[in-house]
Amino acid sequence: MSVTSKHIRNAASHLHQEQLVAFPTETVYGLGGNALSDTAIAAIYAAKERPSFNPLIVHVRSLEDANRYAIFSESALLLARALWPGPLTLVLPRREHCKLSLLLSAGLDSVAIRVPAHPLAQALLHEAKIPIAAPSANRSGRISPTEAAHVHEELGARVSMVLDGGPCHVGIESTVLDATGEHIRILRPGSITPPMLEKLLGRKLATSAEGETPISPGMLASHYAPTLPVRLQAKTVNSNEALLAFGAPLKGSLLTQNLSATENLQEAAANLFRMIRYLDTNASALGARGIAVMPIPDQGDANALGLAINDRLKRAAAPRTESGLSLPHPTSILHKNKS
Ligand code: TXA
Ligand code: MG
Repeated sequence: MSVTSKHIRNAASHLHQEQLVAFPTETVYGLGGNALSDTAIAAIYAAKERPSFNPLIVHVRSLEDANRYAIFSESALLLARALWPGPLTLVLPRREHCKLSLLLSAGLDSVAIRVPAHPLAQALLHEAKIPIAAPSANRSGRISPTEAAHVHEELGARVSMVLDGGPCHVGIESTVLDATGEHIRILRPGSITPPMLEKLLGRKLATSAEGETPISPGMLASHYAPTLPVRLQAKTVNSNEALLAFGAPLKGSLLTQNLSATENLQEAAANLFRMIRYLDTNASALGARGIAVMPIPDQGDANALGLAINDRLKRAAAPRTESGLSLPHPTSILHKNKS
């Protein structure tokens, strides 16, 4: 069923009543709530079972709207003008007395903000006329949803409404940049790659200083954790393993999904979360003991998107603690608070 303007009006009115609405963006589905309301933000954290030290992204219609809540440096402005609407999130200093819920920044004096390009996300923002806080619409620590059905699987009745826009075409979450100072650095790699950013800025991105933990509180080592263990850089596959292939698939797996037969990284990114989800759901029943993943290239400018794909795969493969999360050291958050 396609989304009509009636659905959009309905979704906007849910948001005004502090209820949660999941909606598609070009990257992944977001779990949206009114960014001006502490009640709605608390509901997002509860629905996701997300640790409250991990701040949310605010989605707005335009750069003008973003400018009401955050302070842009020259570089931040240049990137926003070039890349918004699009899959880029800027972490910026929060304007004093800005009306955004304090809960969504998780106590930081910065705010993560983006202008999504997806027509349904834009339609919802225009109809609701409020900023929408939206993390990915999955339970904390799990794979991000790239289809409406995944949102239902993840959140069920915890969300009042899901706008179905079909599959998300980028497939991995937005690139997150620390743009709180003049030195821009990547907090989370995405489809806006370092060479693209460096070309626009006319200089290299900053790397973290010696001994400093570059931190986005959400960048936990273990994330996107499927139930089955994940083995990376597989050159062979065992008969009790499922295979996530790239290029010509290895032979002998229990069940195979191919990210891209033609080794196209864009296609691989768009398929990544759906295929991991599919293998995880279906391979256990066949007796699989793990998921083997073939190497994904990430060297050189032409393969820069491979960095974002491999970042997600590393997190899917990381050892897990009891809760499924390995927590960052608390000082990294304190550091961020002071800067
Ligand atoms: O593509 C996306 O960005 C999706 C769609 C729905 O827009 N959203 C998304 O949100 O991935 P979420 O909440 O799953 O990831 C937000 C990331 C987290 O790693 C979080 O820690 C980081 O952004 N973040 C948010 N606010 C921050 C801040 N003030 N300082 C540093 N990192 C921040
Ligand atoms: Mg997420």
